[in-house]
Amino acid sequence: MSLIDGRKTAEIIKNQLKVEIEEWVKSGHKKPHLAAVLVGDNVASRSYIRTKIKSCEEVGMASSFIHFDAQISEDQLLVEIDKLNSNPDIDGFIVQLPVPDHIDEHKIIQRIDPKKDVDGFHPVNLGKMMLGLPALLPATPYGILELLRHHNIETSGKHCVVLGRSNIVGTPVSILLSRKSDVGNCTVTLAHSRTKNLKEITLLADILIVALGIPEFVSPDMIKEDCVIIDVGINRKDDPTRKRGYRLVGDVDYEQVVDKASHITPVPGGVGPMTVTCLILNTFKTVKWNAGAE
Ligand code: GUN
Repeated sequence: MSLIDGRKTAEIIKNQLKVEIEEWVKSGHKKPHLAAVLVGDNVASRSYIRTKIKSCEEVGMASSFIHFDAQISEDQLLVEIDKLNSNPDIDGFIVQLPVPDHIDEHKIIQRIDPKKDVDGFHPVNLGKMMLGLPALLPATPYGILELLRHHNIETSGKHCVVLGRSNIVGTPVSILLSRKSDVGNCTVTLAHSRTKNLKEITLLADILIVALGIPEFVSPDMIKEDCVIIDVGINRKDDPTRKRGYRLVGDVDYEQVVDKASHITPVPGGVGPMTVTCLILNTFKTVKWNAGAE
């Protein structure tokens, strides 16, 4: 079994990016600037944003954290998004999801200028992705592709089974891996909560991508010997032996599955660090595109 080390891969990419950003700034450009918007006080969202801001600092990018009360109205939030769209100092921004129930997430995403949509969630970016045009790709699927690339995992002609059809992970990664591109050319099956005979399908997977949000759902009897496993889940599991009272587990029963897989991502330290790094990559990408540098 070989570990797919997301932390190490993310460090390699961030170190390269740091050098590129230094050169960019030395050549007279302003520092790329990412803003992260949090609405309300979701503890997990706050922690994700902290990691995103820290990564900006690591690569020499500017960042802003913009916090709104959970009671902000949808109209007010749309006005704030307009301000970020027209602020020339902000190159890219994200609105951390989920937003409170009274706010329509789709309306928010569609209001973001696609050129500043470094999450790659706007229909313009998703449409370009569909067509194989240059686009800001959703960060988690982008991170999964980069993990496969950096670990020289052959995808061409392989059967990839994706569990979960979310707009953020399952649906876009299934499209990206089926495309005619260097990390791609897979035969993809997208399975979800209504899929019948799930185990029959997962047993066919050369590459299994799991993004369900169900702790330790995938057991060893569900996978083929030497399968490549990408675990996108981050779930809290009660653990009185830990100071925090819980530990993080993925959607795959790692301990039970690890010896059967050829490659596997750990949780934490697998896909998570790559999502953050690809957000940063997208921010620098949009800066260069907008300057006509690429
Ligand atoms: N919530 C969970 N993942 C993400 C992400 O990648 N971006 C944003 N904006 N919110 C999220």
